[in-house]
Amino acid sequence: MDYLRIQGPTKLQGSVVISGAKNAALPLITLTLLAHNKVTLTNVPEVADIKTLLKLLRNLGATSSLENHVLHLDTSTVNHTMANYDIVKTMRASILVLGPLLARFGHCEVSLPGGCAIGQRPIDLHLKALEQMGAQITIHAGYVHALAPEGLKGAHIIFDKITVTGTANIVMAAALAHGKTILVNCAKEPEVVQLCEILRDSGIDITGIGTSELSIIGTGGKTIDMVDFEIIPDRIEAGTYLCAGAITNSSITLEHVRPDHLDAVTGKLEQMGCTFDITDTTITIHPAPQLKHIDIITQEYPAFPTDMQAQFLALATLANGTSIIEERLFENRFMHVSELQRLGADIKLNGHTAAVMGGTPLFGADVMATDLRASSALVLAAMAAEGTTNVHRIYHLDRGYENLEQKLQALGAKIERLKE
Ligand code: EPZ
Repeated sequence: MDYLRIQGPTKLQGSVVISGAKNAALPLITLTLLAHNKVTLTNVPEVADIKTLLKLLRNLGATSSLENHVLHLDTSTVNHTMANYDIVKTMRASILVLGPLLARFGHCEVSLPGGCAIGQRPIDLHLKALEQMGAQITIHAGYVHALAPEGLKGAHIIFDKITVTGTANIVMAAALAHGKTILVNCAKEPEVVQLCEILRDSGIDITGIGTSELSIIGTGGKTIDMVDFEIIPDRIEAGTYLCAGAITNSSITLEHVRPDHLDAVTGKLEQMGCTFDITDTTITIHPAPQLKHIDIITQEYPAFPTDMQAQFLALATLANGTSIIEERLFENRFMHVSELQRLGADIKLNGHTAAVMGGTPLFGADVMATDLRASSALVLAAMAAEGTTNVHRIYHLDRGYENLEQKLQALGAKIERLKE
């Protein structure tokens, strides 16, 4: 297995181009299952999760080619509907094929995704909503068996909790349903907004885009003529690089970003003492001479994103005073804490809240990545720590960060990928 060797402390300089958003690309790739035409997606991040989902679609009979961030997809040749365990277990977002497959074929068998390091990750809200649309759902031998032989019916669905992929799955199912679907308490993440915009641009009557209530008039089972499109920039990758500038006390520029998707993140960095120059597509961060402590509660968009919690916890280890970070979305999203403590961080965990006593110096050590965003937090801390840090099990990183070490090397970081 690969690991990253990082020398710290390091300064960064220059600019970095942000890739397309993994969490926008995933549902947009499964959306092509509703299309009868070939579709071209651009600005597609070439990361492991995308390649895994494309492998799943090819297993169903689709054809795909991904080169230089351009993806050509044709799902007109899809000829079966089983998403099997050996792929789904490696990438739980594969559950995003459930809604489209059921809507298009009237049946499908999708392996239960199972949990992951950060939590149990149930899909009960996805299944309840599909049942409200007339689907018969049974769970047998680790698979969801979904049936809707007459097609799905529009329904009035209120999500008990805000769910990003749950909203995406049901939006896609509703697009081909018979009649009107009203969705209440929807996720408003930019990745969900882009999915709705592409559906609208592909001829689906969808209103309320960007709000927590969506209304969708389905085609009654007819597939769509899907438009080509460019994936939005990855706001979490962008937030991670902003934290890289802040944690190394460096001014760097991010290119090809959507600053309006990062308000909660730049707002917290401003409270910590950073300043910014912002244009429509770039953000330049100017670091705080001395970072101030910060209080964070993770919530659904547009509030502070849970996917930035680990990175800010790493940053808070350098701030003066005590930062309080509360994780409200996932039950086990503090796996990075024990690894940061190995670097010398002074952190106290109490249930879903971490108290970070900033100001104790960090020293390089061997640490282990446990999940995607925790891994990036360890890389950030390693760039601030005195000495050499080896970050192991970085296959977690490769799932969602494109060319991380090359991008950081180009900014001046002393980082290299080695073999165990
Ligand atoms: C998406 O996961 C993202 N993944 C996650 O990013 C992100 O952390 C999460 O949204 C929250 O923003 C993708 O978009 C591929 P949820 P998702 O359904 O959709 C509970 C990353 O780092 N819930 O919004 O699986 C659930 O347990 C990944 O890129 C139910 O109870 O998250 C959680 O507490 C990690 N029942 C909360 O809702 C359900 O049926 C939010 O989960 C569904 C969810």
